Formats: sequence, C-alpha cells, structure tokens
Amino acid sequence: MKKKLIVGNWKMNGSLAANAALLQALKAGWPRGRGTAAVAVAVPSAYLAQAQAELAGSDIGVAAQDVSQHEVGAYTGELSAAMLQDFGVRFALVGHSERRQYHGETDAVVAMKAQAALAKGVTPIVCVGETLAEREAGQTEQVVKRQLAAVIHQVGPCVSELVVAYEPVWAIGTGKTATPEQAQAVHAVLRAQLAAASAKADGIALLYGGSMNAGNAEQLLAQADIDGGLVGGASLKAADFLTIIAAAR
Ligand code: PGA
Repeated sequence: MKKKLIVGNWKMNGSLAANAALLQALKAGWPRGRGTAAVAVAVPSAYLAQAQAELAGSDIGVAAQDVSQHEVGAYTGELSAAMLQDFGVRFALVGHSERRQYHGETDAVVAMKAQAALAKGVTPIVCVGETLAEREAGQTEQVVKRQLAAVIHQVGPCVSELVVAYEPVWAIGTGKTATPEQAQAVHAVLRAQLAAASAKADGIALLYGGSMNAGNAEQLLAQADIDGGLVGGASLKAADFLTIIAAAR
C-alpha cells in the first residue's frame, strides 16, 4: 500500500516556546515501526529555522505555508523557493484558500508558485476546494477541476511530482468535515483529471483537509483515493496530531 502523507498546517500560530514544546512532544510520541506515514509541519516562515533545527535527524519534515512565484528580487515580504531549499524545506503549500481569499491569489498565480517550487526541488502541495455557495450551486466539480487544470497546464510533465490537497472551504476551521463519501467523490474526480495528464497519477498523493481531527481521520483516510491529510487546528495539539498520524498507518 502507498505510504500516507500527513501535513500539519500551523497557519499564523506559535511562538518559540510553544513550537519547541509541540515539536518535542511530537518527537517523543513518534510511532515506531513499519508503515508509519510520512509527516511534515508547515510552520510560519519566521520559524523555519527553528523547525529545521528542532526536527533535524527526525522523520518529520519541514514545510512552508507559501512560496513566491518569483525567483529573486524586489518582492518585499516574499520568500523564494531557493530560500526554502536553503532551509531543507520539503514541501510548500500553494493556493491555500486563505491565500486565495485574503491575498487575491488567482489560479494563474498558484500555478506559477507550484512551478517555482518544483524548480527548486520543493514539493508543492496544491490546495483546491469549493466554497459553500459553489457547493450549493452544484459547482464543486467544475471549481476544483478549474483550479487544478491551471497547475497541470503550467507544470506539464512534472505533474506527477505534485501533492494535491482537496480542502472544501466550508470545512476549514469550521468543525464541519466533508463526509468520507463526499471527500472520496471529489478525490475520484481529481484522480481522473490527474490520470488524463499523467501516466503516474496513481502515485500522486491526494490529501483531504478541512476539520480533520483525531476522531474522524481514520474513516477519511480509509477512502480509496484519500492518501493523507492536511490538518490545521488539530495539528497544534501534539496528542491529536499523533492520533491522526497513527490512523494513517
Ligand atoms: P482545519 O484547517 O483543519 O483547521 O480545518 C485545514 C487547513 O486549512 O489546511
């Protein structure tokens, strides 16, 4: 069976002291043995160095929450893929709905970010998902396919190197999770779209995100096309995150 991937998204949370305590608790509670999922934590950029130092030699990878589409230069506040590579960052979230919503990131910008990350050996975790209004209007499939198509078009043959996260916007931070059946239905659509673009689509990790927690992770992760999770709130509590990791074996 394919190894599952669990990524914690800390969003704009944490402090030097809180991060150290959380990462030490994760390392201390790390499940040993065969079949353990691949795990990474997406930390605020100010703490990339701390996370890198704290997680050195562990099985937990460091991820960024965003990456610039530009290579270098006069882009105040931005972080380049080369900088992430410098810090040994394995993954970068791109196109998280909070970036699309609050920072005006378009499908085209998200696609360029994915390509910029790939160019430096950082795996982009491409987030797609519909709003509640779009779901209620029956547009879920159309929206996620449009969002993913932009990235597929941009990265061409590198599509098999992507990670894709389906995150229904109405389920993020709301406590409302998509049912395993709802999530699987969208994942199957995304898998088919990837399969049309790449012969290696089966190997692409398709994560579910949106109020995944210690109680619902196992059922979600049991779905045929759900290869892991992108976990926000529950990744800030070591015990809950470890339970999710254990459910992903
Ligand atoms: P949540 O966030 O688990 O708190 O809903 C998920 C995400 O936004 O990545």
